[in-house]
Amino acid sequence: MSGQRYVGTVSDDHSGNNAGPARSDATQSASFGEQGGVLTYGSYLRVPELLAQQVRESDPPAHDELLFITIHQVYELWFQLLLAELTDARDRMLAGESYNPRVRLERCNVIERVLVGQVDVIDTMTPQDFLAFRTKLAPASGFQSAQFREIEFLSGLKDASYLDRFRGLSADERDRLLRRLDEPSLWDGYMALLASAGFAVATAEERFTALKTIANDRTQHGALWDLAEALMDHDQAWSLWRARHVLMAERQIGTKPGTGGSAGGAYLRSRVEFRFYPELWELRSLL
Ligand code: HEM
Repeated sequence: MSGQRYVGTVSDDHSGNNAGPARSDATQSASFGEQGGVLTYGSYLRVPELLAQQVRESDPPAHDELLFITIHQVYELWFQLLLAELTDARDRMLAGESYNPRVRLERCNVIERVLVGQVDVIDTMTPQDFLAFRTKLAPASGFQSAQFREIEFLSGLKDASYLDRFRGLSADERDRLLRRLDEPSLWDGYMALLASAGFAVATAEERFTALKTIANDRTQHGALWDLAEALMDHDQAWSLWRARHVLMAERQIGTKPGTGGSAGGAYLRSRVEFRFYPELWELRSLL
């Protein structure tokens, strides 16, 4: 395409006919991408600003610190998107929708598989190369990732004690976490949806009856079943990430304590068994 100009015509709507709305002469003669004439790839995506954020602490610079900063920042970007998708899924369930929440959760699941997969990148770092800058990190730790904890709270695993255990939480991060503790979780959204579909969900017994009815009649309740499965995928993916993260951490630091002050691998291992939706796991035993 180099050197070729793309000139829009009224048949560009791909409808196979020229019956689309007439455009002004100015629009017809503008090349694709020149209409606005303001944005570039770099300015739209703020590439210079983005690439200025990888600031190493080690001096002289330890080679692997750029990898370490980059991978954490990439996780935080994905966490931000996950929060947007999961919040929308929750809101739409609260409003009685089942289709879009499933679509959102399916996207989250693909992202979560990327999160698990990209652990391979940090595994290319050796413990010796990590030690070249690790002492600079304490007491900073992934434990202080506010977005990670927001995802947990939004998903249903709410533990207010984390707010006291966080060191160096900004006022904004604290506000966001307090809001997530107060807000309905994804599970609350799903329960609201079941209630709007006529199921009683106030007690554990009622919820199991509802979940079993849905599971046993997928012709009638297919959309609700699919949504429950999408929640399971989210729960399972988070647990897989936790399990992968323990191995990543132990591969680097063995049985040493973490930079955040925890027992390290032992603390992380204790969290692998946490589940967002224990009732969906228990349902399996009842089928
Ligand atoms: C060299 C690689 C890594 C090591 C050795 C490591 C080690 C640890 C340790 C020991 C903890 C427990 C808290 C503490 O005492 O510090 C922790 C927590 C955590 N790390 Fe990592 N980590 C690594 C990479 C990552 C990456 C790439 C992420 C991505 C965001 C991450 C996210 C987290 C999160 C979210 C927690 C809190 C987990 C929880 O409380 O359930 N870590 N990490």
